[in-house]
Amino acid sequence: GALTLAQEKQVAAAAALRWVRDGMLLGLGTGSTSAQFIIQLGAAVQNGLKVQGTATSLASEALARQLGIPLVAPRRGLRFDLAVDGADELDGQLRLIKGGGGALLREKLLETASNYLLVVADSSKLVPVLGRFPLPLEVVPFALPWVLDAVEALGGAPVVRMIKDDPAAYYYSDQKNLILDCHFGQIADAERLATQLKTIPGIVEHGLFLGLAKAAVIVKDGAALVLRP
Ligand code: A5P
Repeated sequence: GALTLAQEKQVAAAAALRWVRDGMLLGLGTGSTSAQFIIQLGAAVQNGLKVQGTATSLASEALARQLGIPLVAPRRGLRFDLAVDGADELDGQLRLIKGGGGALLREKLLETASNYLLVVADSSKLVPVLGRFPLPLEVVPFALPWVLDAVEALGGAPVVRMIKDDPAAYYYSDQKNLILDCHFGQIADAERLATQLKTIPGIVEHGLFLGLAKAAVIVKDGAALVLRP
């Protein structure tokens, strides 16, 4: 029978383990698919695999620590052999929207510092054109009013992310910044939008990950399928 999305995440995570070699320094992603990868990596570490990792969020760090995956702190010159992370959307050229889990800044930092970014995703994430999923921005709280104006001027409809269980409370990132979920509709020119967002003061980072992913493991008809840009 068909796999559920939760089962697909497990299949993609298991396939991603084939990229891992003894001695690697790993960037550990955030979200439900990354969590599956970290859980399976933890099992491999219990069985003798020697790797070290740095996590893209406090949540993934706690999970990795609990599973006995050795963690390294950021330092000058630190580069990762491999980063494995989920995505909210990917297109056929492996352009990504990320940040649904609020971890886009640390994700972009670690993945820019990685020699290889492998995306793990269930079948719902592959789209012909990015933009169905609202684009997350990490924003300095003081800058919020001007960033709202600037995003609207670019044609986006920004929504300040709130806490699910407390819709009156702002959601704060691990860095204590706000997240804006921006509806741009179909993003025809992602490179141009990324450049424009970079010029707006107060936007710390945006969730467009362009030219970073080297491969993606997605699941199609129950089996892992590797995509390359
Ligand atoms: C975290 O900020 C995101 O970039 C995640 O990678 C993304 O939300 C994917 O999460 P799931 O694997 O839970 O869909």
